[in-house]
Amino acid sequence: MCEHTEEFDPSTDTPIYSRLSHPNSTRVEAILSKIIGGECIVYNSGLSAFFAAIMYFNPKTVAIGDGYHGCHGILELLKRNYNIKVVNLNQLDQLSKGDLIHIETPENPYSIVHDISFYVSKAKEIGAFTLVDATFAPPPLSNPFDFNVDMIMHSATKYFGGHSDLLAGCLVTQNHKVKVQLANDRIYLGTNIANLEGYLLLRSLRTYELRINQQSKSATKIVEYLNNNKNLYPELTKIHHSSLQTDDFVKKQMIGGDSPVFSIELSTPEKAKYLPSKLKYFQHATSLGGVESLIEWRAMTDSSAPKTLLRVSCGVENVEDLIADLDSALKQA
Ligand SMILES: Cc1ncc(COP(=O)(O)O)c(C=O)c1O
Repeated sequence: MCEHTEEFDPSTDTPIYSRLSHPNSTRVEAILSKIIGGECIVYNSGLSAFFAAIMYFNPKTVAIGDGYHGCHGILELLKRNYNIKVVNLNQLDQLSKGDLIHIETPENPYSIVHDISFYVSKAKEIGAFTLVDATFAPPPLSNPFDFNVDMIMHSATKYFGGHSDLLAGCLVTQNHKVKVQLANDRIYLGTNIANLEGYLLLRSLRTYELRINQQSKSATKIVEYLNNNKNLYPELTKIHHSSLQTDDFVKKQMIGGDSPVFSIELSTPEKAKYLPSKLKYFQHATSLGGVESLIEWRAMTDSSAPKTLLRVSCGVENVEDLIADLDSALKQA
C-alpha cells in the first residue's frame, strides 16, 4: 500500500482548480459521507472509483466474484500491462498480505447477496484488504461498515443519481488518512466529478431517501407477487433476488430492505429477448437506479450473461401498475 501524505484535503482546503475540488464536489462528498457513514471521495464514474481503489491498495492479486463486467475489464487491463493476478472468490488461498478481496453485494445482475463477514474474516487471516461494491444496496438497505470492511464503493450513477442523467462514483473509508490519500491520488488520475454532474448529484440527493425506500419496497413486492403466482406464467423459469435467499447472513446484511434490482429467466432466449417489447412502463435499456423502471435483456451488454436472463430495475411508479404490466407481458410470452 502507498505511503500516506497530508498534502490536500478537499473538505478543508480552499478550492483552487476543479480537478482537485470544487464547491459542488465537496458538498456531494459532505452529504455522501453522512449518508454512507464514513469519509467519501467522489469520482466521475463508478469505474473510476474502482480504478482509484485498485491504485490505492496496489495489490499483486485481486480476488473477485462474477459481478459487474466493467470491474473485470479494469482488472484485465492491469493484468495485460502489469501482470496483476486475478482469482475467484473461492481461490482465496492464492492471496497474500496486502492483496485485495473485492466483494460485490448484492451482485450484478442477479441481485444475490454474498456473506461479507466470511470474506472479512478470511482477509484478516491473510492480511488482505476488503473492498465492497454496494451499488445494488446503498443505505439504508445495507451498511458494509457494520462488518469492518476497509472500503465501500458505489456507482453513484445509479441510486444516488437516480435520474439516469449523470455518471458518478464514490469511495468511502472510515480512516481519515486514507481519504486524504485518495483525494491526492485523484488529482493525478484526473477523475474528480465534473462541476455540472456534481450539481445534478446534489439535486438528486434531496429526494434520495424517498426514492430508495420506494424502489426497494416495489421490487420486493413484485418479486413476492411473481414468486407466489409462478403457475400463471409457464415461461417464467427463474426469479433471482435477495428476498428469496434463505441464508442467515442475508437478513443481517440487508437491514433496510432488499435491492430494487432483481432478475428473471424465461424458457428460451427468444422469449427473453422479446419480452421488453411487450412492456409499457419498463423501458428496455441498460443501467438501473433511475426513477423510471427499466428492463434489460442482459446479454445485450454483458456477453457473460445467459441469453434467457432479464434484469429488472424498479423505479418509483405505482407498484400495482408495474405488476399489471409484467403480468400482461409474461402472459403474452
Ligand atoms: C455494481 C456496479 N458497479 C460499478 C458499476 C460502474 O459504474 P459506472 O457506470 O458509474 O462507471 C456499475 C455499472 O453498472 C455497477 O452496476
